[in-house]
Amino acid sequence: MDDRTLRILMRNLRTRAYTSVFSGTVLALVFAALWVCTQSVELWVPSSEVKDGVEAPVTVRLPGNYFRITMLRNEVHYLATASSTCPNVFPRGTKFSAGTECSKVLHAFEAARRPIRPTRLLGSFALFLVVGLLLSAYMRRAVMGRARWFRCQVAVFVILTVMAMGSKVILLFTGLPAQILPVAMVPLLATYFLGRRLSFCVAFAAAIVASSLVNFDVGLFLIYLMTGVASVVVLGSRRRTRVLVKAGAMAAWVAVVSTLVITLVFSGTLDIYDDMTEHVDPRYSIWLAALFSGIGSGLAAMLFAPIIGLMVDEVSRGRLLDLQDLDHPLLTRLRENAPSTWEHSRAMANLAEAATHAIGGNALLIRVGAYYHDVGKSLRPEYFIENQGGGENPHDKLSPHDSARAIFQHVVEGTNMLRDEVVPEDVIEFAYSHHGTGLLEFFWHKNLADGNSQNLTEDDFSYHGHRPTTRETGILMVVDAIEAAARTVDHPEKSAFESLVQRIVFSKLAQGQLDETSLTVADLRIVSNNIVDTLVGMYHARIKYPWQTESTGLTANSTPQEGSPVVVDGVDTGMQDTGTGGSSQHPVIDPLSQTGNGTPVPTEPTPEPVREPSPEPVREPTPEPVREPTPEPPIPEPVREPSPEPSQTTFTGPAPTAQRNTEPGVPSPKPDEKKN
Ligand SMILES: [Fe+2]
Ligand SMILES: [Fe+2]
Repeated sequence: MDDRTLRILMRNLRTRAYTSVFSGTVLALVFAALWVCTQSVELWVPSSEVKDGVEAPVTVRLPGNYFRITMLRNEVHYLATASSTCPNVFPRGTKFSAGTECSKVLHAFEAARRPIRPTRLLGSFALFLVVGLLLSAYMRRAVMGRARWFRCQVAVFVILTVMAMGSKVILLFTGLPAQILPVAMVPLLATYFLGRRLSFCVAFAAAIVASSLVNFDVGLFLIYLMTGVASVVVLGSRRRTRVLVKAGAMAAWVAVVSTLVITLVFSGTLDIYDDMTEHVDPRYSIWLAALFSGIGSGLAAMLFAPIIGLMVDEVSRGRLLDLQDLDHPLLTRLRENAPSTWEHSRAMANLAEAATHAIGGNALLIRVGAYYHDVGKSLRPEYFIENQGGGENPHDKLSPHDSARAIFQHVVEGTNMLRDEVVPEDVIEFAYSHHGTGLLEFFWHKNLADGNSQNLTEDDFSYHGHRPTTRETGILMVVDAIEAAARTVDHPEKSAFESLVQRIVFSKLAQGQLDETSLTVADLRIVSNNIVDTLVGMYHARIKYPWQTESTGLTANSTPQEGSPVVVDGVDTGMQDTGTGGSSQHPVIDPLSQTGNGTPVPTEPTPEPVREPSPEPVREPTPEPVREPTPEPPIPEPVREPSPEPSQTTFTGPAPTAQRNTEPGVPSPKPDEKKN
């Protein structure tokens, strides 16, 4: 595969469309028109007009006092007498006699709004257009991850429209108080699928659209806004859709309190007694309506969640559980053809799942993503260090540029294999984004060392793929680097893992690989701490058996001695994809030099492990390992400071910086220098 073809293939791995300014504007125009039609639908139907002596075909809701004066300023002489004796809501089916006070008020209201005025329609359309444009721009620019996908923006606009249409039906065909509208359903669903950062903007848009249905009542707008924001605040982890109902129940109480406060602000009285006596029918109680609005929002959100999940192309939990099956043909192939890559994937899955769970992300998704992210390596496993097992290295016969292309191809081939098996796009994204747009530094520096006869640039040695766009894919990218680098730590102690994790995370940040993931600084701190804890658990020390202490010094803390010299995963970080292992002709690189500013630090070839024949271990009786701390455990004192002459397996890379150091062989500063 030539270079140009490979670049084109890598650039086109992502199939999801992103929202542009043009498509966002079109969306806002279309849905603003829909919302205007929804808002004024009864005015387009002449038969819906209320007439004397005939049952009202639809419920008529008069504006509140303030707006009644403002909107009907030409009919003030009616308002002065009507506002004290006529209710604001005339339910469907109500009959009016000609000449009564309420009839006059109703006729004044109908005369003010029928026939529908184009200027009023235009004003509403302009307002909705501004709301739509702001919402689209916010999702496109301020909120990262899924919110930028076109289909997700369509989904949010559709939820808003469904809420508006459902609310209009309630308002027209029932006499229920307007507090009952399930407005909080919109921010609940948007937050559930697209993240919390979107919540306030969506709650604001939903409150505007809903209040437009009730004559832009300011009090109701504030109630809708407070309820919507509150519902999101209490929305818990999103592992089950029932959290939507719990959040809705909590929002119900906020709706009651909001109604109480707004009633006090606008009326100066709670009217609880009137509410209980005059509206004996509980259907007309504003307090009960507020209570049911939250509960109804939660139930409606749970009802619509599967549909919205399909709209935003989110893989279902059941499908993920299916993909977890280790008998899946792709996993079987990976396990058989590239067993070390499979073990790397499984270790990543454990690290990533715990870290994602800690920040409330989709832990099951990232576990499955870890399983499949390197499935492309099963086609040509021998090009990757972890599968060479000390045998022949095909990169010895290739130029650095050809080697880089061979490594790049595992991303393309893996993505194609997953698409052939109709794996969900959420899982495929892990395959084409786990290396981001990183530089394959080992081969770039090898090319420089060979003289760069073809005048190649860093661009020729960089992945032309896509950076992660979700929290889960961002975490997997970091874990991919960490899992590999952790294998090179001489003394697996917490301080060493902390230093390693922090530097890899920082290097990814400095390279901009996590820019689109919506991971916050707090998320990264939690993820980093969690990964360190998991690594400590994975590499925990054990007490040596007596036969081990008497032999060649093999201990639980020893560097792994099997296989090739320790060169690890990594493409951006590491060397799992460099395919350099197994050949003593190539320099061994400090893995962390590829994570940050990335200058590889050639070191001395790994000394051969001591392989003197060890005495036959005494097998009988097998000593029980001592799990409780012993007074003097035979574990050497942990080395907390970097050794003056670091070996290739000691973490001694330069502090990562945003500017990549391209000078090969530049000595690395000590980690301590970074602290100040
Ligand atoms: Fe990879
Ligand atoms: Fe990997």
